[in-house]
Amino acid sequence: MSQTETVYLDGKYTQKNEAKLSILDRGFLFGDGVYELIPIYNKHIFYIENHLQRLKSSLNLINIDSSIIDDMQIIDIIKDLVSKNNYINHYIYIHISRGVDKKRNHIYEKSFKPTVLIMGENYTPFSKQDIKKGKRAITEDDYRWLKSNIKSTSLLANVLIKNKAYDEQAYEALLIRDGYLTEGSASNVFVINDNVIKTPILSNKLLPGITRKFLTDLIKKNNLEFSECEISKDELFESDEIFCSSSTNPIVPITKLDTKVISKEAGPISMEMYQHAQDFIKEFYS
Ligand code: PDD
Repeated sequence: MSQTETVYLDGKYTQKNEAKLSILDRGFLFGDGVYELIPIYNKHIFYIENHLQRLKSSLNLINIDSSIIDDMQIIDIIKDLVSKNNYINHYIYIHISRGVDKKRNHIYEKSFKPTVLIMGENYTPFSKQDIKKGKRAITEDDYRWLKSNIKSTSLLANVLIKNKAYDEQAYEALLIRDGYLTEGSASNVFVINDNVIKTPILSNKLLPGITRKFLTDLIKKNNLEFSECEISKDELFESDEIFCSSSTNPIVPITKLDTKVISKEAGPISMEMYQHAQDFIKEFYS
């Protein structure tokens, strides 16, 4: 399928294997851009308003005028891609860079026309069996910049950290800044202690995950105990349960952290949340 997939690049539909970008595109030269990753469930676009709102916020935070985003136009393009490529359970990747330079130059011109790429990608979420079994994570210093609330395409630190986890046969790296949990290298993190579901407060140190928002909506709907608060490294290790959340896998229980066993398998509250998420997706996107 990937050889013949249609993608959208700068106002035109083209084939994925034929889409070309200038070497002077600032996204390529500087990682000067932002992105979104939006799940498609049974051909339906998930939490689209929240994703578009975050995209506009990311654009504003890097001084690209977010009025270039016309919600209805983006939704129409996504629908076109879903229909042209027969996407059923996929994700849509939106990438907006500041545009093409005349020469490599740190200073950008205010008048650049941003480059807009929208494409789909196939992925297979973990099975219920995998979720029940849980995954291992490592901890790592959060040495990224202090604007991690921007969904920036400059992902070198995240890439290095995620690969360190991968090389150590772990699913994810949980990041610690000044003794406190921020998030994962490509996910938000929740812990459960004494039946209270906790997650770090939103700030410039972590991405406002859309799955995080989806899960907090579910927590409130189901009257579970919840707190957005600081979580120290010690508390993280003493947690009864831990799970990561992201658009590709809404809930991934972490049963082993570094060498410490957190739980033998995914805990009851993580599994309850997993089921609520599955039920919601099934009900709303069938
Ligand atoms: N990443 N934090 C970071 C650093 C992330 O990269 C992601 C997602 C999240 C979770 O955000 P959301 O729930 O909106 O997916 C948190 C995506 C999946 C990626 O970069 O591929």
